[in-house]
Amino acid sequence: VLDTLCDPGDIVLCTAPTYLVILGTMANLRVRAISVRTDDEGIVPSDLTATLQRLAAANELSRVKAIYLVTYFDNPRGVTLATQRRQQVLDVACKWSRQSKIRVIEDIAYRELRYDGEDVPSLLSLDKEADRVILAGTFSKSFSPGIRVGWGVLPAELIGPVLDQKGNIDFGSPNFNQHAMYQVLASDRYDAHIERLRHAYRAKRDAMLTAADQELAPLDGVHWEIPGGGLYIWVELPEHVDTGPQGQLFNVALEEGVLYVPGEFFFPSEGEPRQTNCLRLSFGVQTPAGIAAGMRGLGRAIQACS
Ligand SMILES: Cc1ncc(COP(=O)(O)O)c(C=O)c1O
Repeated sequence: VLDTLCDPGDIVLCTAPTYLVILGTMANLRVRAISVRTDDEGIVPSDLTATLQRLAAANELSRVKAIYLVTYFDNPRGVTLATQRRQQVLDVACKWSRQSKIRVIEDIAYRELRYDGEDVPSLLSLDKEADRVILAGTFSKSFSPGIRVGWGVLPAELIGPVLDQKGNIDFGSPNFNQHAMYQVLASDRYDAHIERLRHAYRAKRDAMLTAADQELAPLDGVHWEIPGGGLYIWVELPEHVDTGPQGQLFNVALEEGVLYVPGEFFFPSEGEPRQTNCLRLSFGVQTPAGIAAGMRGLGRAIQACS
């Protein structure tokens, strides 16, 4: 999609932090990612406006081609875009499409992995003209990692160009996997599988939160957010603790058998300041007992490096 929408030098706006792999994709395409202030309810619409105002003043509005958002339990923070902000984001995109059409790419990778509360309407469902939102879904989180099958919903005029470009890049999605996915979806096994996953991941999330209360809460300046879904917990450490791969904590944690993703990887170089004192934990793979042991190790590592 990005390859279809963007030329080198074009701009995509995103949250701070955002999914790191999309940042790599943009870098490959020589697309500028600019992050916008984001809080625990997602991207802040007034800051989105301010960023677009600034770009317009710098004569760069015509280069803005998209806003990329993970709208449910995002990677890395587990944040869901608040319901009341959803229409606002679309309105901002519409208002500032004076020079180039600003699309909204809605990545819903974690929508089905909800552990608390009720589902909320997608941006796509609010796009009444069906001409702005590009929805990207994957079965990698809800069914099986590595299945490499997903789906997209696109404005009609983009379907042909995006499919052509996709074919140039991957020469088609794996046929066998698509048949397997089709069989699962055509049966009633998919919903039952999701229910089982939710149950198992909820228990793992709760194991990590309980361990965080025990191991991290006593440490000064350590905070984390409670995700209502997804696979991640975002932890903020005191400002002087460098969580990066060259920092002390990363190696001390590894010696404790704990691998985290340094928070700085999730920030593009433009926009909001890159936070170097955060880390992303995943509760997806480990058992609850493994999570508890890992959190004890992480607690010791943070203590040693604070
Ligand atoms: C936000 C987000 N989008 C997309 C993906 C990728 O999904 P797939 O494995 O189908 O490429 C991930 C995987 O980590 C993700 O976190």
